[in-house]
Amino acid sequence: MSETRTAGMATEAGGDPASSGIQEPERVIIFDTSLRDGEQAPGISLDPVEKLEIAEQLARLNVDYIEAGFPVASQGDFESVQAIARSVHGPAICGLSRTHLSDVDRCWEALKDAGRARIHVFISTSPQHMEFMLQMSPEQVIEETRRAVARAREHTGDVEFSPQDATRTSFDFLIEVLQNAVDNGATTLNIPDTVGYGIPWEFGRLIGKIRKEVTGDYGISTHCHNDLGLAVANTLAGIEAGSRQAEVCINGIGERAGNAALEEVVMALRIRGDQFPNVTTGINTAELARTSRLVSRLTGYPVQYNKAVIGRNAFAHEAGIHQHGVLSDRSTYEIIEASTVGQEGGQIVLGKHSGRHAFSSSLEKLGFKIQGEALDRAFTRFKEFADRKVEITEADLEAIVAEELGADVVEGYVLDVLEVSGGNASAPKARVVVRRGTETFEASSEGDGMIDAACKAIGTATSVDAKLVDFKVSSVTGGIDALGDVIIQIESGGVKVSGKGVSTDVVEASARAYLAAVNRLARSAHRKAAPGGEPLTLGVTP
Ligand code: KIV
Ligand code: ZN
Repeated sequence: MSETRTAGMATEAGGDPASSGIQEPERVIIFDTSLRDGEQAPGISLDPVEKLEIAEQLARLNVDYIEAGFPVASQGDFESVQAIARSVHGPAICGLSRTHLSDVDRCWEALKDAGRARIHVFISTSPQHMEFMLQMSPEQVIEETRRAVARAREHTGDVEFSPQDATRTSFDFLIEVLQNAVDNGATTLNIPDTVGYGIPWEFGRLIGKIRKEVTGDYGISTHCHNDLGLAVANTLAGIEAGSRQAEVCINGIGERAGNAALEEVVMALRIRGDQFPNVTTGINTAELARTSRLVSRLTGYPVQYNKAVIGRNAFAHEAGIHQHGVLSDRSTYEIIEASTVGQEGGQIVLGKHSGRHAFSSSLEKLGFKIQGEALDRAFTRFKEFADRKVEITEADLEAIVAEELGADVVEGYVLDVLEVSGGNASAPKARVVVRRGTETFEASSEGDGMIDAACKAIGTATSVDAKLVDFKVSSVTGGIDALGDVIIQIESGGVKVSGKGVSTDVVEASARAYLAAVNRLARSAHRKAAPGGEPLTLGVTP
C-alpha cells in the first residue's frame, strides 16, 4: 500500500545514484520561521522558555534553519534568539535584521554563540512600501542594502537578503537590488511574497527569471504568505522553478493569513516526488504531528480539524462508502501513510453517514460479534442517535447493543415520580422517586431551571455524580402537544454516554433522558469491572 502511495519519490529511490548514473537528489532547505514570522501572528506571544521548547522540537524535526526571532524588536526577543543560539544544536540559527547597521550588529550579538549562524537582512522594495513606510528613494534602498549586507558579511559567511514585498516590486528594480545584495556578500536571496499576492505560475516564472538575471554565487529561497490561500502552491511553484530553500511555519502560522505550512510543503514534495524529481528535504516527518501539537498548545492557535497532514480529521472517515473502502485497504482514501507524519491512519468516526460495515467493525473492536437481525436492530438504534449529531462513544455503542439485544445484565433505574415547580417567583425545585427492582430511592433538589433541578435530583437519588456535556431537544411532531425528544450526554470519570427520553413534557423527557444516561454509565462500569473481559457475542447464528 505505502509503495503505491509514495511511488516515484526521489528520496526513496534505491541503489547508489553515482554508480547507476541517477542524479543525486538536491536538498530543499527547510527554513522554519515559526518563531519569527509565526510569532508575529496576532495574539501570539511566546516567552523565551516557550521559544526554546519549540526550537528544541524543531531540531528533532530536523529543520535546516530556525529563524529564532528579530533581536532588535525587544529584549525578550534578543534573549530568546541568544538562548536558542547557545543551546539548540543541529539546525543553523538565524536572526532577522533591518538595514540599520546597529540592528545588524545587535542581531549578530544575539547569534554569535550558535554553532552555525545566519543574519537575515531585509528592506522593502515595492513602490507602496518605499513611499509609505520607508520614505526612501530607490537609490537609498540600494545604498541601504549594500551597506547592511556588507556589514552582515563582516560577521558571518551566511547572509540572507530579502526585498520585502518583492511580488509588487518592479522587476528591473528588484533585479538591481538583488544583484547589489549578491555583490556585497549575500549568499541567499529570499523572495518574499509578503502580501500573498502571487499566483503560482506567475511566482514560479519570477523565480526562474531572477535566477537567470542575477549573477553570482547564491542560493534562492521563497517566503510566501497565504492571503489568497496560495502560500503552499506558490512555494512549490518556486521549488519547481529552482528555489532550493522554503521559508515556512508549523501549522501555517504567521502574519495575517499566515505563511506556507511546513508540513504541507514537505509532504507535497515527498508524496508527489514524481512532480519534483531530484529534490528532497531532511525533515523527520514522523515528528510533524507532535511539533504541530506543541506549537498549537504554546501559541494558543488551534489547528483546524480538516487541516492537511496534521489536522485531527486528516485520516478520519465518516461516510459509509469511504469507511468501507478504508476498512478494505487504506490506500483507497489515504495518500499518506499516516505513521510517517506521526498520525494514526484509517480512523473510523461513527456518525450519521456511517454504514453498517463500519458500525459492525467498530462493535467487533469492542468485543461484540453481531450479525443478521440483531445487527439491523442495533444499527437502526445507532442511526437514531447519529442523526441527532450526538458524538457516539464506545460506552454508547456498548449500551446500544446491550439494551437493544437483551444482553442487559445490570438492572436499570425506572422513573416512578417526577414533581417539579418553577416560574419566576421561587427557585425551581424537583422531587423524584426512582426504582430499581424492588428498591425505591427518593431525592429533591433545586436547580437553575426545572430541568436542571430534575437532573440533580436524579443524580442524588441514584448516587451518580455526572456532568452534563450536551443537551439537545427537538419536537417529534408539530403543534402545541408535540412530543419533546431530548438527547443528553453526560460524563463521569472520563466516560461519556448519551441518553434519550421522549414525553409531551420537555422536563419529563429530559429527566428520562438523564436517567437513561445514568443507567448506561452503570452498565459501562459493570462491563469494565467484569472479570475475564470475554467478548460479548450477540445474534450470531451458529
Ligand atoms: O513577509 C515578509 O516579507 C517577511 C520578510 C521579513 C522576509 O517576513
Ligand atoms: Zn513574512
